[in-house]
Amino acid sequence: MKVSGFNMVIKGGLVIDPAIGFGNEADLFIKDGKITKIVKSGEISQRDIAAIPTESIIPAEGKLIAPGFIDMHVHLREPGREDEETIMTGCQAAAAGGYTSVCCMPNTNPAIDNQETVKFVLSRAEHSDARVFVIGAITKALKGEELSEIGDLVKAGAVAISDDGNFVQNPEIMRRALEYARMFDIPIISHAEDKFLCDGGVMNESFESTRLGLKGRPAVGEEIAVLRDIKLCDFTGGRLHIAHVSTVGAVKAIRQAKSEGVNVTAEACPHHFSLTDDEIGKEFNTNLRVNPPIRTQKDVEAIIEGLIDGTIDCISSDHAPHAEEEKDVEFDQAPPGMIGLETTLGLVKMNLIDKGYLSWADAITKMSFNPARILKLPGGTLEIGSPADITIIDAERKWTVRKDNFHSKSKNSPFIGWKLSGRVDCTILGGRIVYKSK
Ligand code: DOR
Repeated sequence: MKVSGFNMVIKGGLVIDPAIGFGNEADLFIKDGKITKIVKSGEISQRDIAAIPTESIIPAEGKLIAPGFIDMHVHLREPGREDEETIMTGCQAAAAGGYTSVCCMPNTNPAIDNQETVKFVLSRAEHSDARVFVIGAITKALKGEELSEIGDLVKAGAVAISDDGNFVQNPEIMRRALEYARMFDIPIISHAEDKFLCDGGVMNESFESTRLGLKGRPAVGEEIAVLRDIKLCDFTGGRLHIAHVSTVGAVKAIRQAKSEGVNVTAEACPHHFSLTDDEIGKEFNTNLRVNPPIRTQKDVEAIIEGLIDGTIDCISSDHAPHAEEEKDVEFDQAPPGMIGLETTLGLVKMNLIDKGYLSWADAITKMSFNPARILKLPGGTLEIGSPADITIIDAERKWTVRKDNFHSKSKNSPFIGWKLSGRVDCTILGGRIVYKSK
């Protein structure tokens, strides 16, 4: 059904909004890009119905209605690698995955370490199918040597800073970054992997890496980095967000820090709770190469435990597109990273919700409400007056991940061929349908 204009009603879905605690079948009214009314099913007056053009009614009986997903961690590759992804195609992938907002990492070429590049990205995103928020670089060119002009980045619109892909190895620089970021009340997102301990590693350091003769990245490389940044966060009074947590010890460190009142939050990615390192030796699928690496069953269990008890606040995709020819090489020659915007929901449903670890409300909190809260973004809730950023979910729909069906320009997913359950039915951005499943 084609819906145009800004008057629409989403009819009869089960509204799940952890922020307002609504859990009923309801009709959601949208006007001028905003949510104007939520009425329990069957309670709409005839007058209200008559005011809505029939073509603007979106039937959602049997579906879940959630605040649009917000991905705190994506790589959109523009500027610099438009052959792998552009802001436009990345946002199309986002919409297909149920995301209405994405936060893009600064490891582009050139890096997003100055006002002009922030403005460039925001201008390219103006008419895209998702809202784009920019994460600026902590250091110039992400070299870890000299701080970016953090105030300038914030002024231009950056919502956080990170050297994602790189750990800020110098603790003095990280200290100053936390102090500056504190002045603007933005978090620092840390890619916590000690460079020396992880240098040259291409997978988790384990029995498997020894068996395969591949250099490992030890769990302690992540854990030392997490512990250091927590210590600096506590010392400076800044705000720290740990990206893509992947080890038992990292979860433990964050849990302990939170219990002591340190201002730290954390995210986990689907590949870190869906895959283990013994997958690598089966086919040497280079799409399994990622930093930090996929690890062991014990690590998977710790991440799930962290998601359940709230140690881990968010689920992000770490969508990292790479060109096919660059992945089509030996395992240790391939660049790290995998796409994730279009498979996260299905993996969350299958591996966390279906197994009873998280409820839908928990999952939506971690995929929408918490990212909005941490980065102070619009959305994350369906409250009256909020932007009409909405994800309609077909919770029980089974589907197979197919390379040809990705909207992303890159296809580097290790989940191709997987049968998943739970799929986006429709994504609405500011009252405009940006994705409708076939
Ligand atoms: O595997 C990764 N790929 N980890 C990162 O932190 C960066 C990302 C990329 O940009 O490809």
